[in-house]
Amino acid sequence: MTDQVTGTLVLTVFTAVLGSFQFGYDIGVINAPQQVIISHYRQVLGVPLDDRKAINSYVSESTQELPTTPYPRSPTPITWAEEESMASSGIITMFWSLSVSSFAVGGMIASFFGGWLGDKLGRIKAMLVANILSLAGALLMGFSKLGPSHILIISGRGVSGLYCGLISGLVPMYIGEIAPTTFRGAIGALHQLAIVTGILVSQIIGLDFILGNHELWHILLALSAVPAVLQSLLLFFCPESPRYLYIKLDEEDKAKKSLKRLRGGADVTKDIAEMRKEREEASMEQKISIIQLFTNSSYRQPILVALMLHMAQQFSGINGIFYYSTSIFETAGVSQPVYATIGVGAINTIFTALSVFLVEKAGRRSLFLIGMSGMFICAIFMSVGLVLLNKLTWMSYVSMTAIFLFVSFFEIGPGPIPWFMVAEFFSQGPRPAALAIAAFSNWTCNFIVALCFPYIADFCGPYVFFLFAGVVFAFTLFTFFKVPETKGKSFEEIAAEFRKKRGSAPAPKAAIEMKFLGENA
Ligand code: GLC
Repeated sequence: MTDQVTGTLVLTVFTAVLGSFQFGYDIGVINAPQQVIISHYRQVLGVPLDDRKAINSYVSESTQELPTTPYPRSPTPITWAEEESMASSGIITMFWSLSVSSFAVGGMIASFFGGWLGDKLGRIKAMLVANILSLAGALLMGFSKLGPSHILIISGRGVSGLYCGLISGLVPMYIGEIAPTTFRGAIGALHQLAIVTGILVSQIIGLDFILGNHELWHILLALSAVPAVLQSLLLFFCPESPRYLYIKLDEEDKAKKSLKRLRGGADVTKDIAEMRKEREEASMEQKISIIQLFTNSSYRQPILVALMLHMAQQFSGINGIFYYSTSIFETAGVSQPVYATIGVGAINTIFTALSVFLVEKAGRRSLFLIGMSGMFICAIFMSVGLVLLNKLTWMSYVSMTAIFLFVSFFEIGPGPIPWFMVAEFFSQGPRPAALAIAAFSNWTCNFIVALCFPYIADFCGPYVFFLFAGVVFAFTLFTFFKVPETKGKSFEEIAAEFRKKRGSAPAPKAAIEMKFLGENA
């Protein structure tokens, strides 16, 4: 019997990925109103206004250069880091970078607990409870004009980060569990589609003539409460994960009911049979701790690959673009950098949508490889464009096109795939620990890039993207040699692939009988 997409499945997936939407919104929202909020911090903290302009005009006069660019083009201009710290009198820079990065710190901490909370409360209640954090974060930011704004925003971003850390584990887990086998990849990729839609929406409503201005920036920051409220309401109409009900709670009848709602009353014996098999495996398997993932030889290879996929995603430099695209476009000589940034958001969304369709056709490993190889070539063109910009003005088009293509290739594979592929590597026993550590590594690398990108750009000048090209190339080779294809494969086959890549002997019979998500081979 072929799997079908029902109204309840659509509503349920839509509701779940409203969490991913908030994640994207929070990533993108802080970018556009940066100058407006910084000037508010100055007022609140009594720091005198715009020594930036004074420094810039001083350097302009003395060097005849464009000092606002992060990549120095003459021997004397001030560097990005110097410019930032001088211009913002140190303290403002510190409060600003805390405002940006407290989000990733919250995410890092909470990413450990998403799976645990989902197991403790059930997926639906866990998402409901997580929304309390989202609302609390939005309120802190929404009322930040009434108190010490910098403190309220830093803590509000931190609390929102906690929410996003939780859902970056919960959403992929829940939608992976309710998806019919045939659509598992496509539905998994919807998490990423919702993230990029969130980024795009925040970029658009963050424009200064909409909400990114002195009067309304606090509303812009607080608007993530809207999807939080909507999600909380809709969650009451969503069925609990049948896998959680059956495998964790041993509630066969409830699991059947939930399945019937998701599959539209169709015959659910196939799903139940799959889950029975999975439960048997789970009962045979011990619950695996994070330490055991690294010490037990049958998990070591898959967990290393899982970590590398997330590291590849983040160290490709993608968030360097999302956090700093406006300055990068400025440097590349683009006349309307804010609109180019929105262009990036739009391209990002279009290509993620494309990958939702591609992922079931072309396979995860192939798409990841195509994406990484494309990003490698684009990173080289981005750097070449920046290096030659002084000699050939049309190089700005080369850089801009390369950035657009870089983002497109990212979304074809390296963006969405790590978020759901890791779950496919592991059976019930080790899966929660594996997802937790994978999400943690993602957030940590995200934090490192956010913090270090300006300094690396400063150090490397226009050659910065050569560095990322090198990193991307190394991860491409790793993927080629070490990452197995998981599309349409049972857990048993995936485990066998890993053994093959490790070059070890076939597994004992008991292990061979384990199947991922009960999928038919
Ligand atoms: C992925 C990354 C996230 C990034 C986004 C960009 O979801 O995990 O960090 O901002 O893609 O589209």
